[in-house]
Amino acid sequence: MDQSIKHVWIIGASSGIGAALAKKYDQNGWRVTASARNAETLDDLASSGHKISSLVMDVQDAGAFDHAIAQFNQTGSLPDLVIFSAATYRPGGLDVLTHKDANNHMATNYLAAVGLIEAITPEFTKRGHGHLAIIASLSGYCGLPNAALYGPTKAALINLCETLKPDYDQLGLKLSLINPGFVKTPMTDKNSFSMPFLLSPEQAADKISTGLARGKFEIAFPWPLSISLKILQKMPYALYFKLTKRLAS
Ligand SMILES: NC(=O)c1ccc[n+]([C@@H]2O[C@H](COP(=O)([O-])OP(=O)(O)OC[C@H]3O[C@@H](n4cnc5c(N)ncnc54)[C@H](OP(=O)(O)O)[C@@H]3O)[C@@H](O)[C@H]2O)c1
Repeated sequence: MDQSIKHVWIIGASSGIGAALAKKYDQNGWRVTASARNAETLDDLASSGHKISSLVMDVQDAGAFDHAIAQFNQTGSLPDLVIFSAATYRPGGLDVLTHKDANNHMATNYLAAVGLIEAITPEFTKRGHGHLAIIASLSGYCGLPNAALYGPTKAALINLCETLKPDYDQLGLKLSLINPGFVKTPMTDKNSFSMPFLLSPEQAADKISTGLARGKFEIAFPWPLSISLKILQKMPYALYFKLTKRLAS
């Protein structure tokens, strides 16, 4: 294994932002391991690139991360960078909120990231370096219409990354939090509302890879939406709900 070639593991790489990131890192000369459940799409992705290999996994499977890491260790190819991009999304408010669906969203979007952190951190620590990037969302900044199942999982990821950043610093490891706005992917194709500042997956992958190369903690984009939501988050509730009600209509 050529140790001078950097290795990125992208979890949630069969479509959308994850697939665009896989192609971007491949073009930049990295070795890419692409993970998701859909083996066929991953194989298509692998054959479209130079150094992309697929590693099929369901992030909800207990032991999936340990199994993958054991495979990396066997070949002496523990990734330099790991990007967690897997997520599920069902738009809606009270109309879609059930314990079963909330549990499924939490399991894929949040608890799987916890499983990844638990599995990868000791490996990075043993080796002495490593960069973990978690994709959350601008919708995790505050409660928004149509995000009853999804928004809380992203808020939890943001809070977790803020909590763990000093621990990662102390270990000499890098942690990044990625908060995209709207990106045109199979996920947002489910939305029937208008999506301001919609980006392509390639534009998102550019912003993410540039931010990660700079070692940024938070990579939030596009900035007009990110700033608007930060301001919304700080508003008194009377004004806040006036605005979010408008977004819902
Ligand atoms: N698109 C946006 O506007 C937007 C905005 C903010 C944040 N984000 C975040 O960006 C990330 C990528 O989203 P996207 O828009 O690119 O969506 P996407 O095209 O639907 O991609 C989601 C990826 O997650 C994988 N995945 C889902 N469940 C999985 C499971 N149980 N095990 C393994 N992989 C699983 C999917 O692959 P399989 O189905 O093959 O498993 C797919 O590769 C997500 O974290 C999303 O929340 C997206």
